[in-house]
Amino acid sequence: MFIIAGLSQAGDAASGVSVSFMESKAVQILDGKSCSKQIRREISDQVAHLRAAGKRVPHLAAILVGDDGASETYVANKVRDCDEVGFDSTVLRLDATTSEAELLARVAELNADESIDGFIVQVPLPGHIDEQKVTLAIDTAKDVDGFGPENVGLMCLGLPSFVTATPNGIMELLARYRIETEGRHCVVAGRSNIVGTPLSILLSRNSRPGNCTVSIAHSRTRDLKALCASADILIAAIGRPGFITSDMVREGAVVIDVGTTRVADAGRPSGFRLAGDVDFDAVAPKCSWITPVPGGVGPMTRASLLQNTLKAYRRAQGENDV
Ligand code: GUN
Repeated sequence: MFIIAGLSQAGDAASGVSVSFMESKAVQILDGKSCSKQIRREISDQVAHLRAAGKRVPHLAAILVGDDGASETYVANKVRDCDEVGFDSTVLRLDATTSEAELLARVAELNADESIDGFIVQVPLPGHIDEQKVTLAIDTAKDVDGFGPENVGLMCLGLPSFVTATPNGIMELLARYRIETEGRHCVVAGRSNIVGTPLSILLSRNSRPGNCTVSIAHSRTRDLKALCASADILIAAIGRPGFITSDMVREGAVVIDVGTTRVADAGRPSGFRLAGDVDFDAVAPKCSWITPVPGGVGPMTRASLLQNTLKAYRRAQGENDV
């Protein structure tokens, strides 16, 4: 049985919708879609208060270089999210042939623009541009992606920072559903700079959620199957559709699927569907909780960018405790 737990106004997992799954026990869905909706509602309320007080609203900018289809969609979604909560947004579209120097000049302009609270440079960038150079050029106070070294370092030290969106969204999901993490063995499969590495640090911190014993697994890990099967909490951030099979998951585990690979699907108008790293149908019956794809981590990632933008705005207004 699946239980899709509803979220109360206070953000707690409250009631549930159940779905039969053969004769197995209850499996509960970590519903990122409804959780992110609630976060957007909370942000909208704050924006409404700002407007009512005659203040300007938060403003997010995105630089999009070239015409990569997935990037176009991601940026369009970010604009839509801003519209929904009442933020201003600006998209700077640059041609795929834009030089690195020109892009760095645009970054410098946004750094200096006081009407912009935070901005992102959508990646991947065309091959002739050094992504790291661009990341390093973004003002830490406006780095709402949290990709820059200062924000990563602050996060590692447990100091106020912009935490990268996907790890932040996963921590928020665990918190709002009150998933117990203390003392649990968490296996993070994938060591990317923007997901696996920061998430492993956040989960190991003396915090709530946190206090996990964390293992980071990667392509050189010996006996990955056994390691994953030992996890109380398994985070799959590998980018390989269906990689996590049921024999890699222990009974009662919490499984978080970060994968969102586009796979061809002629039956859909878009020509593709999003596939997670977890073989959901086979794995779900073993889990206590699991995120679906789509509707799990993805919407939480989007909500996190809004949270970071609001934080950047508040800091720009002189509120240093956010
Ligand atoms: N490309 C895919 N996801 C992201 C993201 O979160 N931020 C940026 N800047 N680029 C991306």
